[in-house]
Amino acid sequence: MATSPEPAPAGEVGLFDAVVNLCKRRGFVFPSAEIYGGIRSTYDYGPLGALMLRNIREAWWRAMIQERDDVVPIDAAILTNPKVWEASGHLATFTDPLVDCRNCKERWRADQIEDTCPKCGSKDLTDARPFNLMFKTFVGPVEDASAVAYLRPETAQGMFVNFVNVATTTRRKPPFGIAQLGRAFRNEITPGNFVFRTREFEMMELEFFVPPADSPRWQQYWCEERLSWYVRYGIAPEKLRLRPHDKEELSHYSSGTTDVEFQFPWGWGELEGIANRTDFDLRAHQERSGTSLEYFDQATGERYVPHVVEPAAGATRTMMAFLLAAYDEDEIGGERRAVLRLHPRIAPYQVAVLPLSKKETLTPLARDVLHRLQRRLMCEYDETQSIGRRYRRQDEIGTPYCVTVDFDSLEDQQVTVRERDTTDQTRIPIEELVGYLLARLDA
Ligand code: GAP
Repeated sequence: MATSPEPAPAGEVGLFDAVVNLCKRRGFVFPSAEIYGGIRSTYDYGPLGALMLRNIREAWWRAMIQERDDVVPIDAAILTNPKVWEASGHLATFTDPLVDCRNCKERWRADQIEDTCPKCGSKDLTDARPFNLMFKTFVGPVEDASAVAYLRPETAQGMFVNFVNVATTTRRKPPFGIAQLGRAFRNEITPGNFVFRTREFEMMELEFFVPPADSPRWQQYWCEERLSWYVRYGIAPEKLRLRPHDKEELSHYSSGTTDVEFQFPWGWGELEGIANRTDFDLRAHQERSGTSLEYFDQATGERYVPHVVEPAAGATRTMMAFLLAAYDEDEIGGERRAVLRLHPRIAPYQVAVLPLSKKETLTPLARDVLHRLQRRLMCEYDETQSIGRRYRRQDEIGTPYCVTVDFDSLEDQQVTVRERDTTDQTRIPIEELVGYLLARLDA
């Protein structure tokens, strides 16, 4: 999770503020429980944020599961037997070094500050001590040691403990993967930078099980695949890089990790880690549970514990990167506009249907167009204010296409499709509209 302290390009700090402001103003992200003053660094995803997150999940699912024949999904529980976290090493080692400022009582991650409190400037800091990042809770009504459980800090373990179940029921042999997305929880000491680091977030993880000797090759393969996924969905290649971890950065389970990094306004930051987890987890669970997690290859008579290559991404952090990469300001007809140049599959809405006027004569046709589109695409319907203002509103939330229904449409059964980035307008027969737009989603 390290963030290298390279300076941001000029003007980029303004970009962060512009995107955070847009997120709140237009309903992508709200501070959680805002009417009670919120809860530090916890966010709720509003209507546009919920749609966009869903699109990010789907884009990941499409690339990692649907378009492949060697990956299957699961959806494991968030609460699980605490022995899982003993075996995985999370109870003993999933810690950050914590220091207290004796002067202002603020707490910091020792590896993120020099020997001075960033809040009050005091040098009177405690020694660093390990702080476990897992959220603890109790299962059932009795709050004693036997009832302790943890909210998962990664989705990965649900895939390791189900390795044999999945391999057997799907008749898979390595190389094959198990993929999962869902919420994860970490009691971060210093959450911040909006949704970049939060205590509750969403992960998208693949555990790819391979014969031991093949793991370096597969790690290289997944680094390239994952980097190209971000480009496919709209981030410019020069805003992305692969960065191998130094030895001292490696997680306790990893023999080597390479991060996909994005150039955030404050410097390069991790979007995803692609780790070689070796046989660390399967072996640990095998030893702790007494259940064999070996794979037996009937063709060769070989028996081995597979090694695992893990591309692990954050959906909520990725959403922030997509927003930062897409935000732009330009001038249309002498008027300034803010525009989110989001990929059509990532944008909250793919289409907005805009009747030119609220007049009753137009409404039935406009709603008919809406209903045709809604079966295949996420649409917004807006009939308030001038058409120019409505275009601006859609540009600002990234809607790639606006469909305008006007009085000529009643005569010629055609509508105007306006494209967000170029503002070009094309007249299209209503009968051809769905096909026309679908063809452009992945163009
Ligand atoms: N199973 C491997 C694993 O958990 P990680 O690098 O700790 O690896 C994977 O997390 C991804 O999850 C990160 O690259 C990041 O995108 C996201 N992530 C991790 N901690 C996060 C946090 N506190 N808030 C938001 N996203 C986070």
